[in-house]
Amino acid sequence: MSTESSETISSEFMNPNLEVMYTADEIRGRINELGRKITLDYKDSELVLVGVLKGSCVFMADLMREIDLPLAIDFMSVSSYKNGTVSSGDVEILKDLTHPIRGKDVLICEDIIDTGLTLFRLMEILGSRGAKSIRIATLLDKPEPRVKKDLVVDYVGFQIPNKFVVGYGLDAANRYRNLPFIGIVKDPSLL
Ligand code: IMP
Ligand code: MG
Repeated sequence: MSTESSETISSEFMNPNLEVMYTADEIRGRINELGRKITLDYKDSELVLVGVLKGSCVFMADLMREIDLPLAIDFMSVSSYKNGTVSSGDVEILKDLTHPIRGKDVLICEDIIDTGLTLFRLMEILGSRGAKSIRIATLLDKPEPRVKKDLVVDYVGFQIPNKFVVGYGLDAANRYRNLPFIGIVKDPSLL
């Protein structure tokens, strides 16, 4: 038998180890603004949204429904190699696009940009395939740890401080992607 209090204790969304940074409403409002801007910017384009799996899936699902244009979607999955905890910038393609992007206007959708190494390399890889344009839309931007300072990010949902965040697609050890908000794990040892 579950009582109201036992349901509260077992709730992932009300996990007391999480501190909300952006609510679902705040995220929805910001993505609506981004979508309206992208709709204006890509009028008369052959737009392809490229999601970087897995973290961008929630952002991309919401963003594409705010873009009032004909468009196509595709996905890539990449793994970034790390030397210890520091990203080396080497990127292996685990899943490639299913359609060519030659002549298309590509908008890469990311969950968060941290050092920028993954996206910098991805821009190099996709940049050699003859796309008409390639730009980046990210829900979150953490400028402080950026190594690739010259990475141009065209659409940013929120700039955040150098904190580890989860939810709305972002994970910690594959958990918390389903949170409808973005939060900080207060005590990572309790993961
Ligand atoms: P970078 O920009 O190459 O350092 O890597 C960005 C990737 O690191 C993102 O796509 C996320 O998968 C992951 N990442 C960076 N910061 C965070 C965070 O705060 N929470 C969850 N994942 C993160
Ligand atoms: Mg990612």
